[in-house]
Amino acid sequence: PNYTSVSNLSNLLNVRIEKLVRDLTRLGFSDVSHNYILSREYIELILQEYNYEIDDRVSTLTWENVYAELKSAVNPKNLERRPPIVTIMGHVDHGKTTILDYLRKTAVVAQESGGITQHIGAFQIETPVSGRKITFLDTPGHSAFLKMRQRGATITDIVVLVVSAEDSLMPQTLEAIKHVRASGNELIIAITKIDKISKRERDKAIDRVNNDLLSHDISIEKVGGDVQVIPISARTGENMDLLEESIVVLSDLMDLKAENATNTVAEGFILESEVKKTVGNTATVLITKGTLQKGKVFVCGNTYCKVRSLCDEGGRAKLKALPAEPVEVLGWKELPQTGDEVIQVKSEALAKKYVAKRQALVQSEKHAGDVKKINEQRCSEA
Ligand code: GTP
Ligand code: MG
Repeated sequence: PNYTSVSNLSNLLNVRIEKLVRDLTRLGFSDVSHNYILSREYIELILQEYNYEIDDRVSTLTWENVYAELKSAVNPKNLERRPPIVTIMGHVDHGKTTILDYLRKTAVVAQESGGITQHIGAFQIETPVSGRKITFLDTPGHSAFLKMRQRGATITDIVVLVVSAEDSLMPQTLEAIKHVRASGNELIIAITKIDKISKRERDKAIDRVNNDLLSHDISIEKVGGDVQVIPISARTGENMDLLEESIVVLSDLMDLKAENATNTVAEGFILESEVKKTVGNTATVLITKGTLQKGKVFVCGNTYCKVRSLCDEGGRAKLKALPAEPVEVLGWKELPQTGDEVIQVKSEALAKKYVAKRQALVQSEKHAGDVKKINEQRCSEA
């Protein structure tokens, strides 16, 4: 369903707002203000009564696109390389969490911090060999992903699919392969738990996984394809550096870029949100464009945030976050929702205005829904 304000409709119809208000009053609307929200049914009624025609070039305002005009177009000249965003998938018990724990641990050690790792659902490492950054997301099943997928957006650039050398492909491995195909993500295979297999048996186990992958049409490097297969152990750390460098190499091929200038309108989305007893509303934000900084204001769903502070997964305070750098952000009026977009606005006053506008549209949609339900009920009773 579409909704629009009277002032927006006057733009759409290209008629003076005073005339439109007069017409509406004649149709029986009372107290019509410029912000009065009209539902699709009423818009159609008005079009019929007065033979107005909608100018298709101007889109109708809905609560879903109320923030769209805040965004700015991407300037290709300002694109800079950004770190890849990686998700680990695989069958149950094949070692996803162990890999993430290994990466986390070495990342914390590398930064020489005694900070307690707080699991904020996403973290960034610097690879020990090339010193490049990689962002890992924790939980591919969680609702941010589902919500984003419904909108046709993907968070992830690369999926690392773990396959245990002991078991080879299992049902959830096949599910993950399906997901990768549908989402268009790039794929790297990590054959895990190789430390559990004797040196003599290793090649055989790896061959088995390779053959199983081939039989599921994964074009692995061994046969001239482009999917890298890395045998690793997250227990001993064997080849973990190789896995990290494979991700770096692939991300270079993908040529991942984003604008990160501080004066660009920053955009991103919520990975997770939580009310914490000590500090109140917190959210993990992943910026996709621009820079997140202390003091900047963001709208998000029915709330907004004047950034009070930000920190990384190790609890270290940060001054700013660049694209693909997940941070925990404080300063939310209300708790934002997982998967919702965050968009920078110029001021707190503007944020309030936009949030109110969105809420009014949500309300009018609810109202229109109720009216429709009542009408349907009446019809079925009649
Ligand atoms: P779910 O979250 O339940 O789907 O499992 P997961 O994929 O996260 O597996 P997890 O990392 O919990 O590993 C399962 C078991 O395998 C644990 O007991 C790990 O210690 C063990 N494990 C994982 N990776 C390795 C490895 O490389 N070598 C060895 N020896 N054990 C491993
Ligand atoms: Mg796990």
